[in-house]
Amino acid sequence: MSDTKALSDFLDLGWQRLSRGVADKRAAARHPTFATVSPDGYPEARTVVLRGADRVAGTAEVHTDGGSDKVRSLAVHPFAQLHIWDVKPKLQIRLSTSVDIRSGEDVRHKWSRVPDGSRIAYGASPTPGTPIPRADAYTKLATEDWFTVLTCKIDQIELMQLVDPHRRAVFKASDNWAGEWRVP
Ligand SMILES: Cc1cc2nc3c(=O)[nH]c(=O)nc-3n(C[C@H](O)[C@H](O)[C@H](O)COP(=O)(O)O)c2cc1C
Repeated sequence: MSDTKALSDFLDLGWQRLSRGVADKRAAARHPTFATVSPDGYPEARTVVLRGADRVAGTAEVHTDGGSDKVRSLAVHPFAQLHIWDVKPKLQIRLSTSVDIRSGEDVRHKWSRVPDGSRIAYGASPTPGTPIPRADAYTKLATEDWFTVLTCKIDQIELMQLVDPHRRAVFKASDNWAGEWRVP
């Protein structure tokens, strides 16, 4: 197999696993770790749900509460890395992204598709992360006001697969996803 074909097959595998994550609640890519940088420079990582992965647009989508710390961090450092360990193909996926934060009118069409049971994830009083005297001393607002869509424009995809021999490649939007092998 030519090297170019092997690289493009590897990238195809990465996108297949991402797409599976959006479609299948049990897929590994359903729950990426979403890493940001706090306003004072600390790394922050947390689990999210992968709501979209669009190969043509080169984007991944995450939904969140606009009052959460990650949104504050993204307002200062608008970059995030999504990390997935997909055990079946033994594949680690790392997406380095630039993040666009949208809410309100702009994302109303997406809010209308959020099931009632999932709406409690958006809006809390006081806001997420506020210290409280008891575990239940808060109210969920389930309101569109706090519904926030993070559109993560993918600048780089790094794939690392634990096959024999191990293989690793980096694909950049800036060179039209041609990709290059890297020492694992
Ligand atoms: C399985 C799972 C899925 C989650 N999905 C999301 C999500 O899609 N969006 C989100 O903002 N938080 C999600 N969370 C909660 C985050 O991990 C995190 O606790 C919360 O967003 C607050 O993070 P922050 O204070 O760093 O902003 C999820 C947590 C778990 C355990």
